Amino acid sequence: MTEGRRGLFISFEGTDGSGKSTQMRLLAQRLRASGCPVLESAEPGGTPIGLQIRRILLDSANEEMAPITELLLMFASRAQATAQWLEPALARGEIVLSDRYTDSSLAYQGEARGLGFDTVLKLHKLLLGDLQPDLTLCIEVDVEEGLARARERNRSEVAGLPRDTRLDEQSLEFYRRVLDGYRKIASLEPDRFRIVDGRGDPETIANRVWAEVEPLLERSR
Ligand code: TYD
Repeated sequence: MTEGRRGLFISFEGTDGSGKSTQMRLLAQRLRASGCPVLESAEPGGTPIGLQIRRILLDSANEEMAPITELLLMFASRAQATAQWLEPALARGEIVLSDRYTDSSLAYQGEARGLGFDTVLKLHKLLLGDLQPDLTLCIEVDVEEGLARARERNRSEVAGLPRDTRLDEQSLEFYRRVLDGYRKIASLEPDRFRIVDGRGDPETIANRVWAEVEPLLERSR
């Protein structure tokens, strides 16, 4: 599945409102400015098919959705983005940036919803084989602060793609479990999965992100 791969795969993780999407955008700009071809993806969503799956996932009317259904839809979106965008871009030697990847399913569905890491990892293996990010940057902020930011943003979002949705309606306790999930991944895979301090202004955090990315660029040259 990963044969002929030449590019670099970097994913961003974090609880809602952590600022990861801003950081991914800043990294994409910085990489492009230094002449690197970059492909940006996001989950759930990214591709047009993924965006349709995202609507089902986030629809407040779907409050009966079982955790396992949620997990399978996350993987459906991921499998589509991987086949349609990520693998071709990696094969072309590009740098792929993904706003969330399987680590989100580990933290949210595996840990916070209680499906377990094992179920998520088995699905990953079955559907995506050995494909893993070369580096994952998990932007960590205080859960309460992040949640307040996410709620503020959701309220101010323009009509069209509603942000005040099913997945944004979780309790503080839920997001604490998500954070526990991320910390668990960090302890299992300290080389790949890096927790980045998300406190401070975006430029300061972008420099922390760059400090993690630069050695990887040098190694892959
Ligand atoms: P996202 O679009 O990244 O929203 P935000 O910018 O608010 O973090 O993700 C939407 C929601 O989907 C978010 O609550 C996290 C959740 N999610 C999972 O629960 N499992 C997954 O595998 C993924 C990719 C996302």
